[in-house]
Amino acid sequence: MFITFEGVEGSGKSLQVARTREYLQGKGRTVLMTREPGGTGFGLALREVLLRPDGAAREAWCELLLYLADRHQHLKEVIEPALARGEMVLCDRYHDATRAYQGAARGIAPGDIEAVSRLLGVIEPDKTFLLDLDPEVGLGRARRRNALDPAAAAEGRFEDEALAFHARVRDAYLELASSHPQRFCVIPAADGPDAVFARIAAALDSWLD
Ligand code: TYD
Repeated sequence: MFITFEGVEGSGKSLQVARTREYLQGKGRTVLMTREPGGTGFGLALREVLLRPDGAAREAWCELLLYLADRHQHLKEVIEPALARGEMVLCDRYHDATRAYQGAARGIAPGDIEAVSRLLGVIEPDKTFLLDLDPEVGLGRARRRNALDPAAAAEGRFEDEALAFHARVRDAYLELASSHPQRFCVIPAADGPDAVFARIAAALDSWLD
């Protein structure tokens, strides 16, 4: 089973992915936890280039192609082999992030993104948790984190984008969720980490029974 986690900046995904791994391992499952960008050695170099806040200006298509390069390598090297071994794969961001950020927010046509993705063999996850949060709240959290943590600040490229950009990201995620209701599980992320995880655990239990 391939499960992805999505949300605006500061929605608390990373903590929930880690808790989900622990929960599933406690139930005896073999779990591979990974993330994008940066789920492979090659991808880590791409992550550095993609998220550096002071990096040179780039065309939207250049950014798109680098995210897709990261994803293609990740699928071939990590995700598909783990699924073939029968493991559960948890991924912190995946292709819906490309649809929301490079598509809705940067303005690349959805049909163009899907055409290239098909050529690259991008697969859909089985299930996706969308941690939904007002982007103003999320950005506040993310910017406070960056002020305290130089490693997070070094990856702050998107936190520097205007609120309107993040509002487009959120709207796009919600639209994706309503057009794929079987795949998405939308969880209000303002409720605090324990309440969010309780919702995730309930969904996992219903899928795995
Ligand atoms: P992430 O590591 O999840 O950062 P955070 O924990 O701060 O949310 O994601 C890095 C950034 O990369 C995030 O701002 C969204 C962006 N991104 C895209 O624009 N397109 C993509 O396809 C992916 C996977 C991420």
